[in-house]
Amino acid sequence: MNTPRRSSPPSRAPEPPLHLTRGGVSLVLARDKGGVPEVLHWGAPLGDLDDAALTHLAAARRPGVANSSYNLPRRTGLVPDGARGFSGTPGLEGHRVGGTARAAAPSLVEWEVRAPAEDADLAVVTCTSTDDEAGWTVEVELALDDAGLLHARTAVTNSADGDLHLRSVLTALPVAAHATELLDLTGRWCKERSPQRHPWVQGTHRRDARRGRTGHDATLLMVAGTPSFTFGTGEVWAVHTAWSGNHTTYAERTPEGDCLLGGGELLAPGEVVLRPGETYHSPQLLGSWSPAGLDPLSHRFHAHLRGVTPRARTERPVIANTWEAVYFDQSLERLSELADVAASVGVERFVLDDGWFLGRRNDTAGLGDWTVDPAVWPQGLGPLVDHVTRRGMEFGLWVEPEMVNLDSETARTHPERVLGGREAPPPEWRHQQVLDLQDESAYADVRDALLALLDELDIAYLKWDHNRDLTDATHDGRPAVHGQTLAFYRLLDELREAHPALEIESCSSGGGRVDAEVLARTDRIWPSDTIDPLERQHLQRWTSLLVPPELMGSHVGGPTAHTTRRTHALRYRAATALLHSFGIEWDLTGLDEGDLAELRSWIDLHKQVRPLIGTGRLVHPDHPDPAVLVTGVVAEDASAACYVVATVAATATQHPAALRLTSLDPDRSYALSEELPPPPGGADFSGGWSAPGNVLTGRVLAELGVVLPPLLPEEVRVLRAVAVDTSA
Ligand code: GLA
Repeated sequence: MNTPRRSSPPSRAPEPPLHLTRGGVSLVLARDKGGVPEVLHWGAPLGDLDDAALTHLAAARRPGVANSSYNLPRRTGLVPDGARGFSGTPGLEGHRVGGTARAAAPSLVEWEVRAPAEDADLAVVTCTSTDDEAGWTVEVELALDDAGLLHARTAVTNSADGDLHLRSVLTALPVAAHATELLDLTGRWCKERSPQRHPWVQGTHRRDARRGRTGHDATLLMVAGTPSFTFGTGEVWAVHTAWSGNHTTYAERTPEGDCLLGGGELLAPGEVVLRPGETYHSPQLLGSWSPAGLDPLSHRFHAHLRGVTPRARTERPVIANTWEAVYFDQSLERLSELADVAASVGVERFVLDDGWFLGRRNDTAGLGDWTVDPAVWPQGLGPLVDHVTRRGMEFGLWVEPEMVNLDSETARTHPERVLGGREAPPPEWRHQQVLDLQDESAYADVRDALLALLDELDIAYLKWDHNRDLTDATHDGRPAVHGQTLAFYRLLDELREAHPALEIESCSSGGGRVDAEVLARTDRIWPSDTIDPLERQHLQRWTSLLVPPELMGSHVGGPTAHTTRRTHALRYRAATALLHSFGIEWDLTGLDEGDLAELRSWIDLHKQVRPLIGTGRLVHPDHPDPAVLVTGVVAEDASAACYVVATVAATATQHPAALRLTSLDPDRSYALSEELPPPPGGADFSGGWSAPGNVLTGRVLAELGVVLPPLLPEEVRVLRAVAVDTSA
């Protein structure tokens, strides 16, 4: 029989709060008299604070006791919990089947707080508590990394008898009340990561992703900030739920004054059941703060992803991908010819997309059968791989290992491996179904098939696709998304362990799987199937809230985009890809010498600025005209920068407005140049700031900026800044 542990909160001697500070961010964690920890502050660095100053800070944050309320000051605590008077979304929910525990929901007091070790890589504080009456042991870990990114996660252990059915394990972080505006993202296929903004009013703004993958509409970040924040202005906080399966990310404001950003995995009833002693670990909730708009907020995420992405070289190879060049029309002759032209313009990696495996003549058949189709490749892929590598390029291959067509040997031989939740298979999506990766033999077969390809062929890179939602699926009678997501991670981990040099791209019908957990196991994301540069100007900008530019694929397609039928000049298409992981997805075999020379010069330019892309800071200087979008990369030491200025609508109405180039060193002088001659019909401004010999200080460039010429609709300019005074 459990003994009630708490009739009234035990009173403990006040202890000074913990102050974690790293990477220009402070986090203050205090405990109330009942021993419950609470984040009192996350954001601006607070400088050196001794114990007395911290104690005074905690006193200043103590709420009063309102009329018609609990008798004690109401504190939210580290885990928002209704039993302690929190009126919003509870952090922990579940129920017990069997056993003797008495309380329905956990309410955790008396936490043990472990302060960070002095010499650790991260400033980590771990808080643990057990509610014996409910049988929950909970551990919340908060860590600040060197870039000031906050990593938070919650683990739950079933510490009583009987089974604990988890409903939700959310991690929430408080932000300041003056953050009164929200930004989140939504989208669909070919329109991923579209921003939506609104005032942050009371209630819960919750973005649930229930697609069995991260989702084209997943919010990426939930941002709260001071009104009208931009890429360069306003105080902002943001969280990202790092998970590739079902998940939620939310912002919540209560009448009691809570302002929380939170997230966690979305669990279906019965999906995670903890036997006595078992533990569930939530996804990481990554939190970033910036005093000066979205760009510095993103830099903390970028630093983290650059650190964890397994083998990310800072300089990414230029890719040619065969999809929009040939679709399913594959042959050794045709692709060898394409590879020859690709090599001649400077491509460094040739990626054979969908269509090479057994029975895959179109998208209705073949998924699941990961052997080379002898009908198309009578000598196997070896001759193409040799052809590509002999021309100095790496070879990459498209796979979609989690999927199966019913028209495949795999589905015919093993119908039980098709993941579903009923007698009839789930509705088809692009004629395909999901392979049950929790079925150990299905898992082993797909892993072994991939290993066989990697062992046999010189494959440097896999483009890993996932082209449908996963809904209404069970494994052994339990909702399957949680287990399927873990099996996907395990598969990536096993392949990487066997082939440590292998690089992987995360694709999911374009940008349906973009999150920090998949990027901990892959080297690049494919943000969208649209390579229409006008769409991409927006889409890349918002995707880069989380993803650094060198990990984001961006391809030059043919003149008319296949997804929108809009036509753009090569300079607009290439400049849009310039500052990312550059690629080509275009049948180059039909190009004349003029087009090839122009493409080659864009690839040369990309290679010149590439050292900055993978190490520098991505910036989006604000411009007063909404028709003008500016994207730049600035070297870490501010010695050089490259900017792409694009008009994204009809003619800019404020085109004389200055472009203020922030993020340079105010005390250094810079020579500015324009990379390209003006386009046909475009205005020349070479006599102005870009005249040879003219130099401007970083301060002048940030405060006054440079005046742009009148820009045509959908026109682009590429500017470069080079510090000429390196002694500063
Ligand atoms: C998905 C991807 C595309 C391409 C096709 C191949 O749609 O997003 O880039 O690889 O699959 O079928």
